[in-house]
Amino acid sequence: MNLKTNSEWVEWGRRDPLFGVASWANKDAQGTAPWKDEEFYALGESDWRDFEPHWRRYGYTPGTFVEIGCGAGRITNQLSRVFERGHALDVSEDMTRYAAAHVPSQNIQWHVTKGLAIPLEDNLADGAFSCHVLQHLPSPEAGYAYFREIMRTLKPGGSLMIHLPIHMYPVAVSRKFSMLCDFLYTKFLRPVLAIKTDYQRYRIKRGGTPPMHGTSFDQLELHRTLIGMGFERVEFVTFPLTSNNALHPFVMATKPKA
Ligand SMILES: C[S@@+](CC[C@H](N)C(=O)[O-])C[C@H]1O[C@@H](n2cnc3c(N)ncnc32)[C@H](O)[C@@H]1O
Repeated sequence: MNLKTNSEWVEWGRRDPLFGVASWANKDAQGTAPWKDEEFYALGESDWRDFEPHWRRYGYTPGTFVEIGCGAGRITNQLSRVFERGHALDVSEDMTRYAAAHVPSQNIQWHVTKGLAIPLEDNLADGAFSCHVLQHLPSPEAGYAYFREIMRTLKPGGSLMIHLPIHMYPVAVSRKFSMLCDFLYTKFLRPVLAIKTDYQRYRIKRGGTPPMHGTSFDQLELHRTLIGMGFERVEFVTFPLTSNNALHPFVMATKPKA
């Protein structure tokens, strides 16, 4: 079954893959300074220089990687230089084709998927990576489906580094207020935003700009859910990127050794 958010990503891949990945002002294909391949892949190199030391400190084995939502291969290019081999997957065939044409490495297998499954056998990967992808899924539950797939496909002892938007309610100030915030967000704001995205999605075929739906994860729930799936050493790290100074939260976790 296709995820409903796939339609906008298929469209971004068709219309403007580089801007779909890095939607910076004036960098769209019709903008005053559209992305050039060299600067787009240099951005991936810069971001990876920020990401990698955190994963290295946490611990990963550079054997086989799986990357969820590879886009035009901005980070895949970097992963392929560190890992021996890897699998990059995306719901957009155009994104994946662009990536395969611009990432020189021969050690990557590219997969076009339907959205939540990782098309690999159990216990295959040493590391799972993703950035700027889970934030666009229709719901946190969709993100948790991916974490279950990561648990299945990682080797025992393998680790993940996944970027995703995380929020925390002020439980230490007032538990009741935090519960109210959560209720308002999950029962009112989220459904209203989903209706807005549905409308933008409906407008795609009429020439409208494809949406970039936003989903955020409650940190306590995320931690509880990953522990419940059997992950160990669930840790969070947030740091600014050199490229845009914006804070980027990541979760890291390990599949227990057999
Ligand atoms: C903002 S781009 C980020 C691309 C890449 N991770 C990067 O940072 O350069 C989001 C990518 O996720 C892909 N995507 C969206 N939903 C997905 C899903 N359910 N499964 C896999 N990929 C998905 C999109 O097609 C798009 O290529």
